[in-house]
Amino acid sequence: MSRSAHPAGPRHADVLTEGHYSAPAADLNVLDEKVWSRTVTRDADGGLTVGGIAVARLAEEFGTPAYFLDESDFRARCRAWADAFGPDADVFYAGKAFLSRAVVRWLKEEGLNLDVCSGGELTTALDAGMPAERIAFHGNNKTVAEIERAVEAGVGRIVLDSFQEIVRVAHTAQRHGVRQRVQIRVTVGVEAHTHEFIATAHEDQKFGIALADGQAAEAVRRALSLDGLELIGVHSHIGSQIFDMAGFEVSARRVVQLLAEVRDEHGVELPEIDLGGGLGIAYTSEDDPREPHEIAKALSDIVTRECEAAKLRTPRISVEPGRAIVGPTAFTLYEVGTIKPLEGLRTYVSVDGGMSDNIRTALYDAEYSVALVSRTSDAEPMLVRVVGKHCESGDIVVKDAFLPADLAPGDLIAVPATGAYCRSMASNYNHALRPPVVAVRDGEARVIVRRETEEDLLRLDVG
Ligand code: LLP
Repeated sequence: MSRSAHPAGPRHADVLTEGHYSAPAADLNVLDEKVWSRTVTRDADGGLTVGGIAVARLAEEFGTPAYFLDESDFRARCRAWADAFGPDADVFYAGKAFLSRAVVRWLKEEGLNLDVCSGGELTTALDAGMPAERIAFHGNNKTVAEIERAVEAGVGRIVLDSFQEIVRVAHTAQRHGVRQRVQIRVTVGVEAHTHEFIATAHEDQKFGIALADGQAAEAVRRALSLDGLELIGVHSHIGSQIFDMAGFEVSARRVVQLLAEVRDEHGVELPEIDLGGGLGIAYTSEDDPREPHEIAKALSDIVTRECEAAKLRTPRISVEPGRAIVGPTAFTLYEVGTIKPLEGLRTYVSVDGGMSDNIRTALYDAEYSVALVSRTSDAEPMLVRVVGKHCESGDIVVKDAFLPADLAPGDLIAVPATGAYCRSMASNYNHALRPPVVAVRDGEARVIVRRETEEDLLRLDVG
């Protein structure tokens, strides 16, 4: 089939009726540094390299699909967050974005703390040597067993999410003869500009205890009355992939108001507030995320200002970025399989992975970009939809993007910014084998999470 019979972009664009895409970049070979991890470049032959290693070599050694994580970029982002917030604040990496023992060790070495939200994440953190006092334990429905383990391990804080949990944690701590440091997660009533399923601070959802109807003040009352608890502060997380700082400002203001009310009622100045995570990253060239130092300044300015107005001592601030640290540091490498040009619509490019390694497009309508990375091409841009190999028409990895019209089976393409919530939300749908995560740094590549095997699948099958 002649590819020139199915040319691309602008012609397809005229008839495209759904989807969102911008005009193709002037030169598809140019990698937008906003969406790629920091050591990614093209080498003299036009192939992409990361950490000094060509993707062709990585594909040969580790196979596809695979996630390649730029370790020095990850570490640099950890340091940038820690430096931006300085010694009077704490940065907790949100492990749900992506967690493995290697990541825990990097966090430990770079001076970050860790937010975990399940027994599995807690085990990984402790197993890799994260000191328990640097761990925060989250979740809207921690099991009794999880609470037990967290208290026993001596985690630095448990973030209380319900009235039942206030009592459970207090009793568990008392049984262990300790006072557990806790925060109360409040819902501040902010609608962050993000997808409904990942916005968390409006009232009609499952997380936290509402400020608006006095429930949060009541939760503080109860927590202060229980011997097993040391209430260190209040926590708010307003959502994910947020660019607009206004939501954080409102949240900070409301949290500080609560601290003032607590001071007035109980004569206690709670020493800490946590403003959660949720900072957006660039998935496509159209996204403009803020730098950690801008975020740190904006947050600390507002907290300081509000505290001065309320005549409160400024509390110690903590934040919990997940996506903003790990998201930009990895890309997923795929091999192109079948290519189906649909006349007058677009070209479907199938890859050897799909919704099992990146569910975000199907789940949240997330936007991603994609590039041909095994070579450069001067062919004209072709409007494509990158799809996976699953038995589902919603199995889309990149909804609308441009790739060169001479794309052929066997080419390698990569989707950048897949470090967060891709491997951690990966599934075995259709008995897919979850891809490995390979850390690349200074010319060396090593597997930090291995590829699943068919034996792994069969091992769980006991019938
Ligand atoms: N802190 C708390 C209490 C959280 O619930 C979360 C995310 C974070 C911090 C980290 O948020 P980040 O900085 O990574 O946005 N699966 C969705 C995201 C769900 C996030 C849930 N909580 C996605 O793929 O976009």
